[in-house]
Amino acid sequence: MKSKTNNFDLIFKRFLEVYSKDQQPIGVNFKEMVDSVKFQDRATHSIHIYPAKLLPQIPFFFVNNNFFIKENEYVLDPFSGSGTVLLEANLAGKNSFGCDANPLARLISKVKTSTYDVGVLKKLLQSLKVEIQNVIVDDNEKYPDVVNIDYWFLPNIKLQLNGILKSIKTISDENYRDFFLLCFSNCVKKVSLADSRISVPVKAKLNRKTNNQHPFFDESKLKLKNLENLDVFEKFSEIVSENIKRFENKQKIIPRSNDTKIIAEDARNLNIKDESVDLIITSPPYAGAQKYIRACSLNLGWTELSSKDNLRVLDKKNIGRENYSKSDYITLKVTGIEEADILLQEIYKINPLRAHIAANYLLEMKQAIIEASRVLKRNKYFILIAANNQVCNREFKTQEYLRQIAENAGFTTICRLIDDIKSYGLMTKRNKTASIITCEWVLILKKE
Ligand SMILES: C[S@@+](CC[C@H](N)C(=O)[O-])C[C@H]1O[C@@H](n2cnc3c(N)ncnc32)[C@H](O)[C@@H]1O
Repeated sequence: MKSKTNNFDLIFKRFLEVYSKDQQPIGVNFKEMVDSVKFQDRATHSIHIYPAKLLPQIPFFFVNNNFFIKENEYVLDPFSGSGTVLLEANLAGKNSFGCDANPLARLISKVKTSTYDVGVLKKLLQSLKVEIQNVIVDDNEKYPDVVNIDYWFLPNIKLQLNGILKSIKTISDENYRDFFLLCFSNCVKKVSLADSRISVPVKAKLNRKTNNQHPFFDESKLKLKNLENLDVFEKFSEIVSENIKRFENKQKIIPRSNDTKIIAEDARNLNIKDESVDLIITSPPYAGAQKYIRACSLNLGWTELSSKDNLRVLDKKNIGRENYSKSDYITLKVTGIEEADILLQEIYKINPLRAHIAANYLLEMKQAIIEASRVLKRNKYFILIAANNQVCNREFKTQEYLRQIAENAGFTTICRLIDDIKSYGLMTKRNKTASIITCEWVLILKKE
């Protein structure tokens, strides 16, 4: 079904009619359904890379839909990641609240949804160009506490990055400083020895003889050669200029962003009043599928958002994390979801750690769903985007278990949509314990 934004409420009412007949999920294609807008590099969506970003067409459909939300009301994403939902809410004239356990995600969302004077950004870039000539950096200088810094960065690159960081710190206005810090963060991985095709840092293998048959060998060799003579500030300037253009484009769509606040760091404790939001849209993490903190470790270190030691602390706050000590899973936790518990008991016999990761994931998601219910107004909607995955080669019906948890927490499922998004890039082939996710389920839940 194709449509213009003003028809979205009618389309959804049709879905409701169909769903009420047999309660079967309805196949949709969000990319086709929301084809009136060009999403390629829309507004500020691409100012920084982030793992497992949500397809912007999905929030677009709901935040531009009178059935779900009106002008100036509040949309919440309790797992806001890089802020896809928050930005689409803003572009649709709605206010938004975000929350994420990853400080880099919070910085991306904050910058992405800010309004900047583009003239000031351009002037600041010029001043940085001058500043960088005067900044004195030598190798005795203190470097940020980046994990394995000498493994990931060539000496000349490390030195130049430190100089850029030092000059960014001279910007007195925090909002503008954050813009440049985020551009700097985007530059970090591009000038590192990490393989840019892989989300979690993995060193591009260059010096093993056997590896010169590898399809990426020539590409990696070229990267190393380029890095040896790279002017990092030039690379950084390119990123800044591209991002300035994105803000110019965004401000053409909406001259001033609506109110956006990053309200919390843990979806289980949102720091806002009961019944204070009008719509929740979120794509939560999966059990053991994505290592958000490890994937961002170089960025977190260079931007000084996290020291090396703090990375573990941050990981512990992640729902779906994989690192546990043996004493954590001496016995298997019961989730209260019958089908999941039966499956997890079987898995526990083969792989107790994997069973524990999945069980604890469901228990922590339960806390987050109860918290979402607390802050949502009565008779309003919770759009939960999730998929199924595999745990030890068995299908783990994440979306179905989350739906049951939500129903136990007082939500009613009013509709389920299913979109076959093949190129979502949620997982890497290196991840052997979880499978590629192809279908997204969009659960539309109502707080009765
Ligand atoms: C699938 S991603 C969300 C991606 C986001 N929709 C986007 O487009 O960028 C899930 C997010 O949940 C976050 N997360 C994990 N545990 C959390 C917790 N306890 N509280 C809040 N956020 C958490 C991760 O850091 C990650 O950013």
